[in-house]
Amino acid sequence: MTIHNAITELVGNTPLLRLNRFTQQSGLQVDLLAKLEYFNPNHSIKDRIALAMIEEAERSGKLQPGDTIADTTSGNTGIGLAAIAAAKGYPFRVYMHDKVSEERFKIMKALGAEVIPFSEVEGFAVIMEESDGDFVAAARWLAENVITREPDVFHTAQLENPANPAIHYHTTGPEIWQQTDGQVDIVIAAVGTGGTVSGTGRYLKQQNPAIRVIAVEPGPFSIPDAENEDAKEITGVHAFSNILPERVPLTLDRSVYDEAIAVEAWQATAAAREVALSDGILIGESAGAVLHAAREVAKRPENQGKRIVTILADSGLNYLSTSLFDHNISIGQLQVDALVKGSAVRRAS
Ligand SMILES: Cc1ncc(COP(=O)(O)O)c(C=O)c1O
Repeated sequence: MTIHNAITELVGNTPLLRLNRFTQQSGLQVDLLAKLEYFNPNHSIKDRIALAMIEEAERSGKLQPGDTIADTTSGNTGIGLAAIAAAKGYPFRVYMHDKVSEERFKIMKALGAEVIPFSEVEGFAVIMEESDGDFVAAARWLAENVITREPDVFHTAQLENPANPAIHYHTTGPEIWQQTDGQVDIVIAAVGTGGTVSGTGRYLKQQNPAIRVIAVEPGPFSIPDAENEDAKEITGVHAFSNILPERVPLTLDRSVYDEAIAVEAWQATAAAREVALSDGILIGESAGAVLHAAREVAKRPENQGKRIVTILADSGLNYLSTSLFDHNISIGQLQVDALVKGSAVRRAS
């Protein structure tokens, strides 16, 4: 009998799929593989860190029965934490960007979370303005001034918790190594906290230092700032090149990746729409960004014949209320919108 006792047993061991038709339709001469993280019980890679951060805190005694678990998240970590907190019997409180898709608010509430949008936190708007819309700075301010001031709260702190990169070192990396029998040339992942790329990359490079690790960040038109607040973001993905050192999350190890590739939101959308039609997989925005980057990398002459593993973080189901799969909004339109907004900012400054 294979009966699982709790959703905690269903986290990880996600499948690796060859994207035959996407590869062919893009005219690529590589072996392009996708680690489908939406096979996790709550449909994203963040189930891994949610479980790891909670169980590490239980082991170390930082989390006691009756405590409330709390964090700041753009969505997937919150969904993972909400589900695992529910399955283990802890209350969960999440502080979230107002722009996060409607589905995420609903899912977290359905899983019993107390959801607090940033706009309802007193003083938060001032911090966002002072930090130029920077997520890491905002999360730190929230942690110090709001989250940890409440009694009996365990703050999971995904942006600095070592259990975050560690779980990718212990699970995501070894899974890729075993699934490919060690035959992997390039690994590509998007960066939010940096946990995925740092942990997975470190493990794989220890097995074979020749493996190239590529980290994906948003391009200049997909990074909101004080002057271009409405820039269309790639959910969950944050800039890490050209930022102040104090704004780099502690969970991102900058020595692990060999290269950073910037992708714009419309390019991520295009790739996500294409792979849905070519291979029948419904992925989220950051996964689209990773696929776009993979296609660029695959076109380089030196990469012909190589095996590329893409880590696709979540499911497209979380974005049905956004423009991601809204075919009434063309990629050209998304691109023009982003360029016009960005150029208007440049003209004004
Ligand atoms: C949709 C999505 N993709 C990618 C990432 C990046 O993963 P990591 O935080 O491990 O860098 C995140 C998390 O922030 C995410 O929510």
